[in-house]
Amino acid sequence: MNKIEVVKNVYSVGVVDWNIRNFHGYTYTTNRGSSYNAYLIIDKKIALIDTVLGSFSNELIERIKEIIDPSKIDYIIANHVETDHSGALPEIMKLANNAKLVGTAKCKEGLFRHYYTNWDFQTVKTGDEISLGEKTLKFIEAPMIHWPDSMFTYIPEDKLLLPNDAFGQHIASTEKFDDEIDNCLLMEEAAKYYANILIPYSQVILKKIDEIVKSGIDIKIIAPSHGIIWRKDPMKIVNSYIQWAKGLPLKKDVIVIYETMWGATEKMATMILEGVKASGIEGKLYNISVTDRTEIIKDVLNSKGLIMGSSTHDNNILPNIAGFLDFIKGLRIKNRIGTSFGSFGWSGESVKIIENTLKESGIEVVLPPISAKYTPSEDDLKNCFEFGKQFAEKLKG
Ligand code: FEO
Repeated sequence: MNKIEVVKNVYSVGVVDWNIRNFHGYTYTTNRGSSYNAYLIIDKKIALIDTVLGSFSNELIERIKEIIDPSKIDYIIANHVETDHSGALPEIMKLANNAKLVGTAKCKEGLFRHYYTNWDFQTVKTGDEISLGEKTLKFIEAPMIHWPDSMFTYIPEDKLLLPNDAFGQHIASTEKFDDEIDNCLLMEEAAKYYANILIPYSQVILKKIDEIVKSGIDIKIIAPSHGIIWRKDPMKIVNSYIQWAKGLPLKKDVIVIYETMWGATEKMATMILEGVKASGIEGKLYNISVTDRTEIIKDVLNSKGLIMGSSTHDNNILPNIAGFLDFIKGLRIKNRIGTSFGSFGWSGESVKIIENTLKESGIEVVLPPISAKYTPSEDDLKNCFEFGKQFAEKLKG
């Protein structure tokens, strides 16, 4: 296998999972696969930073064996308990039988509750260091980025930050570095990753980045535990995280998201988007029943305006849009404007239900909802067009 040296004597020994399509128990669709990155540091003392998903244990072991006998490993740094990074620990610990596991107090507790094994464990906290000889491992606790146990490891001699899940992307690739891969694709996957995993922890992320900046840590390379390593321009992803965490949309555009029973709400959605476009604002349209939610959330991260619609069904909204709204509520997204629309037969509760949920989600409702009875008439569709235009004007303002 190819040996990949991140910097001198730091090797990437993780694995690429080409075929994974669903992550986190089907909450995240990984159309481009993923990787579980682990790093082996060769010095007077040998350290392995993180492991991989358990089913890839043998591949990790083979990669390590190409560089060193695993029994020579002195430290295994567990930056995070989640099984995509700790799953290979039971197998590695059998071979690295003199190795000390290193992690936060929460990590120790979490690993025990996963593997029920009393490994030799050294608890560390922010500021603690382990000298490997030429290189030093400095630890930075990072609770809730994105589990309570999460930690970053930093190697000052290489200005190399190993932040585990932070700054990752779900990409399977033969390329390992940001200067080797299409950067549009890379940023798209980084945004999708932030939107689906990290938005709820935005305040924690801002504080952590601020803490790291104030501590004077100089970062030349960021090597996360999923996807591509940032060495060309690591600040690009850090600055994107700051923008996303502040809830600042990248674009003043509109996404129209809807669910429809017999096509009436869909006709409304199409005309609303036409109105948005007529005002010179870019827009996108998604039928939530046929589009992957993971992808739509990425656009929610980057877009300023959300127009959401549903037919009224059993005095309620349709189930897919209900699930999506519930997800949006959990994201606690900021700095967005929205409104609602929908068709109905006799009672027409859907638009109000959506409006209330948008408000509960922290989205500013800037326009009263629009409804149409049964199939929208020509006048209804003209009104939808105007509605789209009015919303676009609010967006511009
Ligand atoms: Fe990649 Fe939180 O695990």
